Amino acid sequence: MQYTSSWRSPSNIALIKYWGKHGIQLPRNPSLSFTLSVSHTDMTITVIPDVGNPQINVLYNGVEQASFVPKISSYFQLLKSHFKWIGSSHITIDSINTFPHGAGIASSASAMSALALCLYDIHAQINDGHKQNENWRLYVSEIARLGSGSASRSLFPTAALWGKAKGIGESNDEFAIPWKENISSIYQTYHDTILIVSASEKKVSSSAGHNLMTDLPYAKTRYKEAESNLLNLTDIMRDENKVNEFISVCESEALQLHALMLMGKNPYVLIEPNTLSIIKEVWNFRRETNTPVCFTLDAGPNVHLLYPDKYKIEVIDFIQSRLKKYCINEMIIWDKVGEGPVRLNQ
Ligand code: DP6
Repeated sequence: MQYTSSWRSPSNIALIKYWGKHGIQLPRNPSLSFTLSVSHTDMTITVIPDVGNPQINVLYNGVEQASFVPKISSYFQLLKSHFKWIGSSHITIDSINTFPHGAGIASSASAMSALALCLYDIHAQINDGHKQNENWRLYVSEIARLGSGSASRSLFPTAALWGKAKGIGESNDEFAIPWKENISSIYQTYHDTILIVSASEKKVSSSAGHNLMTDLPYAKTRYKEAESNLLNLTDIMRDENKVNEFISVCESEALQLHALMLMGKNPYVLIEPNTLSIIKEVWNFRRETNTPVCFTLDAGPNVHLLYPDKYKIEVIDFIQSRLKKYCINEMIIWDKVGEGPVRLNQ
């Protein structure tokens, strides 16, 4: 018997950054993200349970990728208590990302959330009659978290919050929770235009980056600050008239993330000269025009420009005339807040 499942799952961009973890993929501080739409992974997995020689094959667009197998294999070890069949099956995973090839965009959030969705779906098929309840996304978020922390936030429309935050009753470290209903309409159609400054592979993996927090003297202060920024931002985003406060928290979080990399015992720099040039252009443009566009950064040199839909004409013009020149091969991804994963089969 062979089972198949296909899902499309989006990437997400953190406004409050998850940076520092402990135990089995548990965050040191809560984080909050926008779910994206254009940047996503399409994945199909096939499972043949109870085979004599269990096997994992990982393909990218149909082409075998042996180097991914060890990571997937240790992830599956973590999932044995959830999915009993996982250690005795022949599993083939085939995916493709929509990010332009060589865009230097991390794919772990979209890929691991797509994989978690497919595995959950296969589990339901194997256990015929296993009904999905309305909390299935929370469970899948937990499964995704075990693969990559940020992937836990890709399961929900518009926005998600992951990690225990004081005063937010449902928040917890195991899985992310939906946050769409808690933000004003202005954020429901926000744009995230990703300016690709460098397309080279990340020099330091996220896991190595998280580990550098372990002996950082400022770590505790950062975790407190992140939680306080998150509580502040959740208040700000309920009100559509507080976009200036939104900007200030988002940019501070982005710069703090990179400051943490600079402060470690083995410091490293991911931003490039063109990242700084873009940041300065954004600050100048905002000063000149009062247009509420701001930036955030991932663990890399590329710049995410965030802005409300009603300012798109001005911002697109600004990007074309003043920012495009800083992008490698003028590469830009015109992304937007999105509705979360979509099932591709059935
Ligand atoms: C800077 O989720 O990639 O993007 O849990 O080790 O897979 P792992 O790390 P990952 O870290 C993401 C870090 C970040 C901030 C964020 O997305 O919150």
